[in-house]
Amino acid sequence: MARETWATRTGFILAAAGSAVGLGNIWRFPWMTADNGGSAFLAVYLLVVLGVGVPGLLGEFVIGRRARRNPMGALRDLSGSRYWGAIGAVSAVTGVALLSFYSVVGGWILRYLLVSIVGPVTGGAPYLASPGPYFDSISFGVEAALFHLGFLAVTGGIVFGGVRRGIELGTKVMVPAVLVLLVGMASWVVTQPGAAAGYQFFLEFDLATLQANAASVIAPAAGQALFTLSVGAGTMVTYASYLGEDRSLPFDGAVIALLNTGVGVLAGLVVFPLLFSQGVDPGTGGPGALFVSIAGAFAALPGGDLLAIVFFGVVALAALSSSISMLEIPVAVLVDEGGWSRGTAVGVLLALTALTGTVTALNPALFDFVAGTLADLLLTGGLLAFLLFAGWVLGPDSIEEYVAGAGALGARFATPWLFAIGVVIPIFLVFTLLTTAGLDARIGVWPTVAAAAVLVGAVLFGLTRNASWRGVWR
Ligand code: PFF
Repeated sequence: MARETWATRTGFILAAAGSAVGLGNIWRFPWMTADNGGSAFLAVYLLVVLGVGVPGLLGEFVIGRRARRNPMGALRDLSGSRYWGAIGAVSAVTGVALLSFYSVVGGWILRYLLVSIVGPVTGGAPYLASPGPYFDSISFGVEAALFHLGFLAVTGGIVFGGVRRGIELGTKVMVPAVLVLLVGMASWVVTQPGAAAGYQFFLEFDLATLQANAASVIAPAAGQALFTLSVGAGTMVTYASYLGEDRSLPFDGAVIALLNTGVGVLAGLVVFPLLFSQGVDPGTGGPGALFVSIAGAFAALPGGDLLAIVFFGVVALAALSSSISMLEIPVAVLVDEGGWSRGTAVGVLLALTALTGTVTALNPALFDFVAGTLADLLLTGGLLAFLLFAGWVLGPDSIEEYVAGAGALGARFATPWLFAIGVVIPIFLVFTLLTTAGLDARIGVWPTVAAAAVLVGAVLFGLTRNASWRGVWR
């Protein structure tokens, strides 16, 4: 059977933007920001989105479109080495790992949505009276696992529909709906007394805090930047592999990044003024940050119960358009490499993630680890591999693929881009990995940068010069 492709170019853009726009923008972002010193985090995060996320996105696009295969098959076929294939196969594991906590949060959202809808009948949504204790009571345990299964089932249903009739159709509805509803909410929030303090908190640029914290916020900010753009997991390799013809990758990448950042900022323009207008402290840390604070705001607002339905509805749509892209990675691997039918692949993977997600839903410490450190490590390591591959194994072929359909303006960035993904960004990514391991605390920031440069230099030397090493990789 011929491999499926997107029906339209907008379909691809919306699917990729739908993957990017998600809980990362609305839920993980306020959590990470609160944990890592506010505006300092925001500034570093935006820099990494621009300097690492967008070129990284293009690296994944180039690999996916050139190979027209899943991440495992793509790295193997393009290099002719099964070792690279094994590295690509990690993407399938990443997809499962991400889904194992993402659908737990998706379950929380479904639950908040449900109790908001039935709230008016049952005498008010239960989170309104006591936001903090309510979140604590529902976030982990058997019921959390059940809602996780519900979210997973919807995700599986869409992916089962296939590339065109599932993912493309679904995101064509979900992404515009998210945009329209968020714009509507943001314009309504402007009219709320006290909103100004929220804008100030969110948009204020605090240089002193940034200087004091820069080193310690780089790694989590980088992880969050990759997470929000869905980069490093192989989702973008997979989605680009369904492109039918050569259209401009840099243009599409720029649109996707702009949409993602736009939604992130919009969400901030809804959430923070809402909190401040109700005198709620946005600084409650932990994964409950959004749920506890936003519920507090809804409780205090006239018409808050209606607003809550719209808000959790938006978040649910945004979450679904991302979770389907996580599931699609291992599905594509099983379909392309194992020759499985889509139905069997989806079924088996749903059974697997039902299990792993249930374990996560029962264990808060595990959840924190998977959603925080493990996600950061997998995405950073994954992106490092993709970029070294595009930069040094594909090399000039990457440029050719980048330029195809890119037009004169897009093509102008090709050479600087190759240098960035081949040298500069890998050093940065290794640096963040070393920082996550705590090396900078022991030897200092600049020695850690130097160590990262030496490590990358050694790998590049091996990839390009050493004949016996090349024998291993080829
Ligand atoms: N970008 C998504 C979000 O911000 O919620 C999360 C995500 C989706 C990460 C898909 C990685 C991925 F492959």
